[in-house]
This record gives sequence, structure tokens and C-alpha cells, in this order.
Amino acid sequence: HGAAEVLVASNRGPVSYVAAQDGGLDARRGGGGLVSALSVVEDKLWVCAALGDGDREAVRRGITEPGVRMLDIDADVHADAYNGIANSVLWFVHHMLYQTPFEPSFGPEFRRRWAAYETYNRAFARALAEEAADGATVVVQDYHLALVPGMLRELRADLRIGHFTHTPWAPVDYFRMLPDDIAEQLLRGMLGADRLAFLTRRWADAFTECCTRIIGGTSGTRIGVHGLGADADFLRERAHRPDVEERLGALRDQVGEGRKVVVRVDRTELSKNIVRGLRAYELLLETRPRWREKVVHVAFAYPSRQDLAVYRDYTAEVARVAESINSRFGTPGWTPVVLHVKDDFARSLAAYRLADVALVNPIRDGMNLVAKEVPVVSDRGCALVLSREAGAYEELADDALVVNPYDATGTCEALGAALDMAEDERAERTKRLAAAGTALPPGRWFLEQLEALRG
Ligand code: G6P
Repeated sequence: HGAAEVLVASNRGPVSYVAAQDGGLDARRGGGGLVSALSVVEDKLWVCAALGDGDREAVRRGITEPGVRMLDIDADVHADAYNGIANSVLWFVHHMLYQTPFEPSFGPEFRRRWAAYETYNRAFARALAEEAADGATVVVQDYHLALVPGMLRELRADLRIGHFTHTPWAPVDYFRMLPDDIAEQLLRGMLGADRLAFLTRRWADAFTECCTRIIGGTSGTRIGVHGLGADADFLRERAHRPDVEERLGALRDQVGEGRKVVVRVDRTELSKNIVRGLRAYELLLETRPRWREKVVHVAFAYPSRQDLAVYRDYTAEVARVAESINSRFGTPGWTPVVLHVKDDFARSLAAYRLADVALVNPIRDGMNLVAKEVPVVSDRGCALVLSREAGAYEELADDALVVNPYDATGTCEALGAALDMAEDERAERTKRLAAAGTALPPGRWFLEQLEALRG
């Protein structure tokens, strides 16, 4: 047995490598929520996949970061598992993104990819089994690794195994779109854990319902809920550094004097519903002409999962729709939509500070941290337009303007109400949103899971 007492497994790790000019490899540290959550435990091993050529080269050259083990899984196997199953099938099922006539048929190609998904999960289970000390605690992350708990349990009965789902969980009738044997295998794979956890009660209940209906129950595995919150201390400090101030100045210039700002920040992700959000904004300009020249929609849509054609098409469509709104309503002194696609965290924070309105309208979302981060960072208070299908809705419903994400008219009305909200009401709501959205900071979120798993 290995030496690690606490292990974390996820597809995307805390570091990635990029080829440098001089033939070396530059390490880039990720800044995601998981990275800050896990920093509370010093002695841990993070097992992740090599994602790009730089990562693979690093593994081959034996370049490592302390506390990280990167798995060099065959590139084709990884692509089939990650793009072909995790992101095209499991992500689509849990976010209910399939639509006629684009429903899957689960033929031989799917079966071939599924075998890759099994191989990929087994590589994680083996590495964890190798590295874990006697009785160690392992927390497996997300839909990429749904089979790992069961596989690891077979290799190491002594471990405490947890699994955390960062996505929604599909309602049973939708989940059963998957072939029966695959649906069963997924549920049994997850139930290999001692404890499973979800972001909201709603997703946890959906999972339980799937188990009850498909395999007759959860066979003793405990199920919990931990609603990941924003990291207030980190955000407040980070949002006032010089790089953010500089971008704030640039954004102010771009928006222009005396105009209100509607902000959205997302990965360019089908479930984020960016196009319908743009349409709702367009409808606002069309039906409430007094807002013309008086408002700018700052939309950051950072490219994501570009190996998948549907994501590339969606990215292009977002740009097309933004342009069409600008050519329809724009004037020499006013650009109605400012779209940025190059990922820039400091600029996102600048937009959070500047926002009068934040638009968070996903079709479905496990949590959505943007909805929780904006109120913390906002300079003058910010009205939040929030989809009732985001996990964050459960905690923020009281002070957000809640919308049905499919309803462009309703979303337009909420945008109008948000823009008209009185300053003092806005400030009050923002304060309460910030409190609710930071109730369970990332570090505590993780420690609570460890405690519950060991308890
Ligand atoms: C979601 C998933 C994460 C994933 C992230 C970014 O939040 O729950 O597991 O890491 O999206 O997606 P990517 O495919 O780029 O890792």
C-alpha cells in the first residue's frame, strides 16, 4: 500500500503544462473552485489525467508537482472517455440537453467509447489503489469518474471512498434514456462509495430516485448535500489588485459614461443558455426603447470543449447573435453588446465590480458560482437575474429575480425590473445574496465532506 492519507481524483487537475520556447515545459496552476477548496488539506495526493500534449510530455519526462500524480492515459482512450462519453453523453443527460432530432441512438460507436470510459476509470482506480495508505480517505470528483468508486472498492476494501457530483443529476425518466445496462453500471459504480454527495437536495433526490426505480435502492450508501459557496476572502482581495483595477478602467471606457451594465460570465457552454440570454436582451432593446444608448451588455463567453462540434457551432452562434444585435441597434457612439471570448479572470472580476445587473440563466446548472461571486465583489450592488434551474437558486431565490430559462419574454421582463431596481433595494439584496452565497466557503465545503465520510 501507498502512503497517501487523503486522495482526490478528478479529470482536470490543479496544474497543466505547456511547451515553452526553450524546449522546456511551463507549469500553469489552475484557479478553479476545487483548487482553493482542497488547499485546506496540506498533505494530500491529487490524481488527475494528463489532458494535452504538454501534460503527457511532462509525465514522460518525469516532471511532477508535489502532491499531484498525473495519469498518462492513452490519448485516444482519453478522448473517447472524456469527449465521447463524459462530455457528449453524461453531461448531456444530466443537463437534459438532448433534443429531437439530436437524440442519441447508442449504437456500436457508443459501445466502443463506453469501453474507453471503463478503461479510463480503471486507470484512476488502479492509481488510487496503489497510492492510498491503509484506511485512507479518497474523494472522487464528478461524472467523468462515476465508475471509480466501485472499481476501487474491489481493489481496496479498507478505504473510505466518497464521490462528489458537481453537475445536476437527471430525473429518472430522462436518465433512463441510457441503455439499461449502462444506467445500472453507472449507479452501481457510484454506489461503490461509502458516501455520495451532491450540490443540492434536488440533485441528491434525483439520484436516489434513479437507484430506487432502476436497481431497487441505494444499498446502504450514504447520501449527503454540500452546497459549495464562493470564497469571500479570496475574491475580495483578488478583485482589488492592480490588474483588476486596470481592466476596470478599460471596461468603463468601453461601456461609456452614465450607462448601466448587464454582465454575464460563462464558459461557452450549451447549458449556460447564452443565446437565449442575448435574445432576451435584444427583446429589451426592442420593446423598451428608453434603454437604447443607456445600457451595455458585457458578455464573457470563454471557449470550452472545442473538440466537440456542437460546442464549436454554439461558440460561433453566440458571436453571430451578438453581432446581429449590434448591427440592428448599435449607433456610432454605442455598442449594445460587448462580447469577449478570451479567458481572463482579472477582467471577469472587473466586470463583477462594474455590474448593475448579473444575468445567470442556465437551462440547468449544478450550482453556478458566478451567481454567488458577483454579489461579493460588486462595488455598488448588483441585481441578480437567476434561473430557477441553477443549483444556486435554492440558496439565492429570496433576493434574486428568478426566471424560467426557456422563457425569453420572462427573462426580458426580469432584466427590465433589474435595471429599474432602486439603488438602496439593490444594495440590501446584494448584501443578503453575498451572505447566502458565501455560507459554505470552499475549504469548509471540503472539510465537511471529509468529516462526514470518516464519521
Ligand atoms: C464543470 C464540471 C467540471 C469541469 C468544468 C470545466 O464545472 O463539473 O468537472 O472541470 O465544468 O469543464 P472541462 O471539460 O473544461 O474540465
